[in-house]
Order: sequence, then C-alpha cells, then structure tokens
Amino acid sequence: MQGRSSFLIVANRLPVDRDGHAGWRRSPGGLVTAIAPVMQRRDGAWLGWHGAPDESLDPFDHDGMHLIPVPLSAAEVELYYEGFSNATLWPLYHDVVATPVYSRVLWDAYRTVNERFARAAADAAADGAVVWIQDYQLQLVPAMLRKLRPDLRIGFFLHIPFPPSELFTQLPWRREILEGLLGADLVGFQRPGGASNFIRLCRRQLGLQHQKHEIYRDGRVIRAEAFPISVDFGELDSLVREPHIVARAKEIRAELGDPEHVLLGVDRLDYTKGIGQRLKAFGELLADGAVNAGDAVFVQIATPSRERVEEYRRLRNDIELQVGRINGEQGLIGHQPVQYLHQSYERNELAALYLAADVMVVTPVRDGMNLVAKEYIACRHDLRGALVLSEFAGAADELRQAFLVNPYDVDGLKRAMIAGMRSTPHELARRMRSLRRRVATYNVDRWAGEFLQALETP
Ligand code: ADP
Ligand code: F6P
Repeated sequence: MQGRSSFLIVANRLPVDRDGHAGWRRSPGGLVTAIAPVMQRRDGAWLGWHGAPDESLDPFDHDGMHLIPVPLSAAEVELYYEGFSNATLWPLYHDVVATPVYSRVLWDAYRTVNERFARAAADAAADGAVVWIQDYQLQLVPAMLRKLRPDLRIGFFLHIPFPPSELFTQLPWRREILEGLLGADLVGFQRPGGASNFIRLCRRQLGLQHQKHEIYRDGRVIRAEAFPISVDFGELDSLVREPHIVARAKEIRAELGDPEHVLLGVDRLDYTKGIGQRLKAFGELLADGAVNAGDAVFVQIATPSRERVEEYRRLRNDIELQVGRINGEQGLIGHQPVQYLHQSYERNELAALYLAADVMVVTPVRDGMNLVAKEYIACRHDLRGALVLSEFAGAADELRQAFLVNPYDVDGLKRAMIAGMRSTPHELARRMRSLRRRVATYNVDRWAGEFLQALETP
C-alpha cells in the first residue's frame, strides 16, 4: 500500500513478533487479539514499535495489515517502555498492587517517545483521517497529534483500568496526562467506572465543565465513555469445531494422564493476574485432601512478559518456587499436579487447551477486561466447562454467570474451584449458555463498531 491512510491504528507495538530468522507472526496480548481482525477488514495502517531496540525498518505488509514501524533506542525501551509505561503507569493504574516508580528521567523519555509517535501518525494520516490511538503507553499522543493535524478525527482507547482520583493524583504529571487524553474527540474505557473517574478528574484537576459523557474544553466537546472490549466469538467458535482441534484437545488430556479434572490458567506472567493466589488455593485443596493429587492437573500457561522489569523478575522466581513446592509436596511419581509452561503458544494450541480444560481459572487482582475469560467461553460450544472469574476483572461486569470470586479470599477461591469441578453438567450448561449468549452478542466487531461509530459521528 502506498500513500497516506484514511484509517490509522497507533499502538505501542505492532501486532507482530519476529518468528525465527526472517518472518513475523501475530503477537499475543489482549490489544492485538482485539484489533487485528478489525484492521484486516478495513483498509488502514498500523503504526507501532516492532519490538527490537536500535533498529529502523521500512513499512511492510503482514497478514492483511499494512505496518509502519516506529523505532525505539535501547535507552528508550528501558526508560519509556519498561520504565514509565510498565514501572510507573501499569502499577499505578492497577490499584498500586506493586509500588509505582516516579522518576523525571522516565517521564522525559515517555514524552519524547509520545512526540515521535504523534509525528509519525501526522505523516501517515490522510486528510481528515480517523486515527485510533491505543493504551496507556501513548496517552500524550492525542493532544500532540491534534496540534500537528487539527483536521483529524482522533479516538483513544485505554485497555487497562483507569484509576480513581485517590490513586491517579499520586502521579506528579497528572495534569499533563489528562491534557494529553483530552486531545482526542472520544476517549474510551473498559468500564463505566473508568470513564467517570476520568470525567471527575478533569473537573477537579483542570476545572472543566461536563455533562453526562461530555467534557467541554476550548470550544470542543470530548466524549468519555465505556466500550467493553471482546473477542472474535465466531472465529473461535468455528476453530474449536475443526476435527484437528478436537483431536488435539483429546490428545492433551491423554498427555496429562487423563485426569478427572483439568484446571487451566492462561496469562502473561504478570503480577496483576493473581497466578500466585490461584496456585495457593489449588495447593491447599491438594494438601487438605479435598482433591486427590492423582485426579487433578492444573495447567498454568504463563507467557514471558516484560522480563527486564524488576517486579516481573521477582514474580517469575516466586511463581516457579511455588510450583516447585506444590509439585514437590503433593506430586506422585510420574505425576505432577501443576504443569507450568513459561511459553507462548499458537492460537490453535490455545484453543485446544481451552477445549480440554474442565475449569478455567481467571483470578486477576485487577484487570481492564481479561480476554482469556471470553476466549474460553467462545470455545465451549459443548456447554461444558466452568469459568472461575475474579470480581476484579472488567469481564466480571458482563459474565455474571461465571463462578465469581475475590482472589484475595483463598477459601472463596477453593470453594469456587471445587464448585467448578463438581457442578452437575446441567448446572454448567445453564451457566455456559448464558455466558455464550453475552459474548456472542458483544463480540469484538461490536466493540470496534460501536467505538468507531461514536468517533465518526461528531
Ligand atoms: P493482557 O492484555 O493483560 O495480556 P488479556 O487476557 O486481555 O490480558 O489478553 C491476553 C491475550 O493474549 C489473549 O488473547 C490470550 O489468548 C493471549 N495469550 C495469553 N497467553 C498466551 C500464550 N501463552 N500464548 C499465546 N497467546 C497468549
Ligand atoms: O492490554 C494491556 C497490554 O499492555 C497491551 O497494551 C499490550 O499489547 C499487551 O498488554 C502486552 O504487553 P506488552 O506489549 O508490554 O508485552
């Protein structure tokens, strides 16, 4: 594709990772999973970092998408990506479950990189184009881009929670972030609470007038609303009906020793995901004798993530120690109750795992949405399988028929896992039918469609 685009996605990362020597493959993560299908259907371009430091690449096409790489130096990866994005904003926006780092050096790098993204977007967008900026790494881009290109229609979507005033106001650069976001015409959040936190902060910190979802500033109207993200229900639903996926699901169960119960966790290895909490609960169920070690396997897939950030390193050590302890204390010869895999998987293999699992355990201590929960539901057309879901995931607003839990309550978690393992097929089917109705209706197309319609209708 040549020339400038009338539809542009701007995200920290391109939706691809390097695959071996020369090729690219679609990368994991909620954002990519949600937007890649939308991009493939619209003739647009995606602007983002390609994942390697100190390397400039020309634009290229992959998987039906036109990709425009934005370079980052090794120092910027450290200060902007690992630093301000993932050691400051990520913990601050997730209830400070880890302590945020406040550093002027990190902030300067964040501003510099945001400016680079804004300039690249200004160069790539056609007259009057729609530009959709994604996530917490790029919150200054909307205002920077508006300054450069006032003709554009600019949307912003935050994939992670937006915190309440009590936490957000810790940020020394709180006004700059709010001003940055207000450069957009539409600011989207996962939950209504995020939108109202933002509106309240604009009033308190910037003294702006507002009414319902609208904020007024310099003669402009900025809308702030919730658009809960979802998955491509249809694609997953048909994928898991394919004979090779069904066969692989059976094979996985056989490889696990055909236990009575297969429990599954699928996450980036992140301290917000509550992996330690769920393993603790499972370990106690084995230790109490409520579940026999030979009857159950907990498969925990943990994709490597942000491995150079201190908190993530510590988490990896903690989880691996915990897995070793449970297997050491509760395992049998030839059988380990926790199968821990620190790897990324292809979509087909993930789909087969979802189909193989009796109980999907999703227990974040805070999560913007959590697409894994919705993917599991989309894969269970057989109406079997139980979803144990944290109240603190955005998905809990919609998935009321899951086995909802407070991940800090170990006994509650144990009860929910047991309920997932022991409910009658009739009860599981009743719940799954209702969950599937919700995800089938509010799928990713609807999410993107509603956001873009709101953005494109002034
Ligand atoms: P987050 O955006 O915080 O990573 P989500 O649950 O919203 O969390 O999205 C995670 C996405 O990444 C899902 O689409 C999931 O299928 C994918 N994913 C998670 N773990 C893996 C893995 N080990 N291999 C491949 N994809 C994965
Ligand atoms: O959804 C949150 C998010 O940070 C996305 O912005 C990102 O694509 C995904 O998780 C994976 O994170 P990272 O790009 O840091 O590996």
